[in-house]
Amino acid sequence: MKLCMIGTGYVGLVSGVCFADIGNDVICVDKDVNKINNLKKSIIPIYEPGLEELVKKNYKAGRLSFTSDLSKAVKCSNIIFICVGTPTKKNKIGADLSQIFSAARDIRKNINSFKIIVNKSTVPVTTGDEVEKIISKKIKKKLFSVASNPEFLREGEAIRDFIYPDRIVIGTTEKKVSKILKQLYSPLISKGAKYLNTTRRSAELIKYASNAFLATKITYINEIANMCEKLKINVEDISIGMGLDNRIGGRFLRAGPAYGGSCFPKDTRAILDTASKFKTNLSLIKSVIKSNENRSKLLTNRIFKILNNKLKNKRICFLGVTFKANTDDMRESSSIQMIPSLSKKGALINYYDPTGEKKEFKNIKNVKYKSSIKSACFSSDLIIIHTEWNDFKSINFKKIMKNKNFKLFDMRNIYSHEKMIKDKINYFSIGR
Ligand code: UDX
Repeated sequence: MKLCMIGTGYVGLVSGVCFADIGNDVICVDKDVNKINNLKKSIIPIYEPGLEELVKKNYKAGRLSFTSDLSKAVKCSNIIFICVGTPTKKNKIGADLSQIFSAARDIRKNINSFKIIVNKSTVPVTTGDEVEKIISKKIKKKLFSVASNPEFLREGEAIRDFIYPDRIVIGTTEKKVSKILKQLYSPLISKGAKYLNTTRRSAELIKYASNAFLATKITYINEIANMCEKLKINVEDISIGMGLDNRIGGRFLRAGPAYGGSCFPKDTRAILDTASKFKTNLSLIKSVIKSNENRSKLLTNRIFKILNNKLKNKRICFLGVTFKANTDDMRESSSIQMIPSLSKKGALINYYDPTGEKKEFKNIKNVKYKSSIKSACFSSDLIIIHTEWNDFKSINFKKIMKNKNFKLFDMRNIYSHEKMIKDKINYFSIGR
């Protein structure tokens, strides 16, 4: 099939490349000429394991191309995916849909034959109705159809999540469209992915309800972890014990820092906004957002306590600052809350991240990027494992440290207490 992806951000680029890999002709479009020129040279704008190889392979095979010429790309495609960003509006909680509506207007100008327009961006319920309204102002209804096909990719696992999804959700009530889209996904359905055809509004809500539910699950186990700390119980036993119940399931029950990233914080806020527009009270999600916002403060206070409330000139090292491992994404990472508040109290902070220095900390007093684990940790009083990169899973701390009396706060429970006791390391973790 001939596909066009509008927007080469996370969703657009990964989906476009994977669609090409299962045999489609895909044109990825972006307004950012520089990004497009780089993509043509296989220079990838994001860190995502396996993506560069897949871009090279499909570009070389001629199934994948990149352009800034939206008009040409739309005209020669049958299915157009809208994959632009829907960030939180400035100083508000709702999603900014300006890029979606602008893409809809751009598509409208270039409809020369029947087009299926699929919204892959995460958009509030009724956005598909709005897109349809915009296009139908100038184009006859029989020349286009707007469907919803939410994306459930996780950063760092995006290619695997695309190829082996748990489910594919298609929101359309038009039989012809649902047949074509099912056919598009047939290589994945034949490998076991479940296919669900719903109304367009249902598909839009499935995405938000799923992300809000996962955010709730994480927040739930984080609060249970707080309780475990008081009761000297290991939260991991609780996660395993709960997860063995098939009704609950064991995934997304890892306690840690506040959840972050480009989706959970934004989408939990946006679903509240939609709910309030439709006069519904999502009190549970409100509590989840509040609890997660408090979590960074709670862990910062825990750091104070570990350092006996004396932070002035204490050397603290952060290992990993992104919101999770295998990504360079800093969006809503809990480190953005914690590091500045520790620096304000006079701590001297080094950090190391496998994806390099971060602009978020460039102008913060006493915060320095170090280019290796050893140089970041060397003379620290406290080492904080903030992100669960494999690089941090078997560090010989005693060997690399100059200060042998250092403390270790493992926010991802990478190490076992037994090993730390054996190694005589003053060790703190989450919910244990
Ligand atoms: C998420 C959804 O999983 C994905 O389906 C959606 O399309 C986009 O949003 P992503 O943001 O890439 O994906 O990361 P995810 O792996 O879900 O983690 C989100 C946050 O939750 C991270 O901060 C992570 O550290 C945290 N998390 C996740 C936990 O604290 N515990 C867990 O058990 C799982």
